[in-house]
Amino acid sequence: MEKILDIITEKMRKAFADAGYDASFGRVTVSNRPDLCEYQCNGALSAAKQYKCAPIQIANSVVAQLDANDYSMVEAVMPGFINLKLSDAFLRDYLEQMRTGKDFGVEKTGAGKTIVVDYGGANVAKPLHIGHLRPAIIGEALKRLYAFLGYNAIGDVHLGDWGLQMGLIIAELQCRQPGLPYFDPDYTGEYPSEPPFTLLELEEIYPTASAKKKEDEAFAQRAHAATYELQRGRRGYRAIWQHITNISLTDLRRIYDNLDVHFEKWLGESDADPYIPAMIADLKERGFAVESEGALVFPVAEETDKKEVPPCILVKSDGAAIYATTDLATMVQRMQDFAPDKMLYITDKRQALHFEQIFRAARKSGIVKPETELEHLGHGTMNGKDGKPFKTRDGGVLRLEQLLNDMTDFVRAKVIENQIVDEDQVEETTAKIALAALKYGDLSNQPTKDYNFDLERFAAFEGNTGPYILYTIVRIKSILAKYGAWEHLPIQVPANSYAKDLMLAITKLGPTLENALKSSAPNLICAYIYELAGCVNKFYHETPVLKEKDETVKAGHIALLGLARNVLETSIHILGFSAPEKM
Ligand code: ARG
Repeated sequence: MEKILDIITEKMRKAFADAGYDASFGRVTVSNRPDLCEYQCNGALSAAKQYKCAPIQIANSVVAQLDANDYSMVEAVMPGFINLKLSDAFLRDYLEQMRTGKDFGVEKTGAGKTIVVDYGGANVAKPLHIGHLRPAIIGEALKRLYAFLGYNAIGDVHLGDWGLQMGLIIAELQCRQPGLPYFDPDYTGEYPSEPPFTLLELEEIYPTASAKKKEDEAFAQRAHAATYELQRGRRGYRAIWQHITNISLTDLRRIYDNLDVHFEKWLGESDADPYIPAMIADLKERGFAVESEGALVFPVAEETDKKEVPPCILVKSDGAAIYATTDLATMVQRMQDFAPDKMLYITDKRQALHFEQIFRAARKSGIVKPETELEHLGHGTMNGKDGKPFKTRDGGVLRLEQLLNDMTDFVRAKVIENQIVDEDQVEETTAKIALAALKYGDLSNQPTKDYNFDLERFAAFEGNTGPYILYTIVRIKSILAKYGAWEHLPIQVPANSYAKDLMLAITKLGPTLENALKSSAPNLICAYIYELAGCVNKFYHETPVLKEKDETVKAGHIALLGLARNVLETSIHILGFSAPEKM
């Protein structure tokens, strides 16, 4: 379905042409003076220069060509602006098309295109911490947005499961239980199917080993050697690796499920491993990869660089493949398996240089096609309420799960205190509100900016919060339930100015989603639904909806609220949360 701005621009172009001027002057924009008009066209001002006459004269003659049925107001005002307000009939027809069209008639700009969205950032053997919240939430929202706009959107968690952390765990485990068969190079039998550690132990082994590496040089070397041998395919180490991955994955899936974050692919750095030897050989042969101080590197600096861009390291002097290597090989794999039109990565912005390097390497070497779009969205940091880095009371890093639990506990207390739902509904309702608070609190900020996490504020039922949006949806649902069957009711002309404001807000769905995608900014969707929710509440407050005596008028109110509800629910679904039945 065409966007309103495009429809009225087209009509304005025709009016310019019919009045004898060039159609290109007919560009319409959303008004920057909403008190005066809804849309405006300033083309007469530029046309005046070309045609050497007064702008107001042009504006007047263009206005005379416009179809009066489209507008409730169309005015040429000094010095030559054209101000517009849409007619009730125009709005009604447009909204009725949105109501009856698939996905509100939003144009599927991504039809036929594939995107890989790489987000989440999880690593095996390390618990998810609060630093993993933003890439999960933002990535999930963007992936759903791409999918809604017609893309074949493939979310991939790209697990960190191939680096030094694996070697550290193997080396530490060997210190603790040297007798295990995994460490005996001559062992040829089957390895035990039960892992030699629990999740809890694993979560302790890694930080211990990581600290030890800094103090104990010999241990650090053993860990590096173990990493290298693991990557080379040493049987016993692969078996340990498999145990670690199995245990971690079960836990990761559970936590991501609780966050309503779902990946189409659970591939990891290790899955890129089979592509590495051929890729390296090819890069060497074509002269892209060169030896430097015992390592193999891919120089990516360009003459125009303002700051130094160091070469991409492909193979370290100890022979191990690293982050950049697996990322490049993953691109090879993705091109081969999915042939994506775009790859979008969501990580902390502190990884910007890494992505700059691998994107350059991928382009120079032709690992991706020239037309394959590459984007790194570097998100800002989530700080504590005081603006300082988020820490637990004892100064440690807060686990993601703990953060979600804290939010859930806070919301549950409110739900129980206000007796919002029956006892058997408390957990489900609480979970939905808590998730909305957490996700909206994050997504309403520009992804690239830092923000302060404020549990009480995010969970408030009033203000620009997730719970407020849910509350608005629940409120509409209860009105609709009181009315009865409403899904078939057509949209009518607005009953009053509040209805018209609500209708105008609804029409912005398509443009909002398109802009949010173009600028990787889910915050635009948040701003949109906040405005929409405001219009709903205002309309409901000012209009006797269920008390209306005239049945036809009442049906019109209900149809409008029904459409608003559907648009709001679809929008929050894109953002990654959902509304309870009662609140
Ligand atoms: N696991 C990485 C980390 O903890 C993030 C992975 C992001 N994706 C990628 N393809 N590099 O920093």
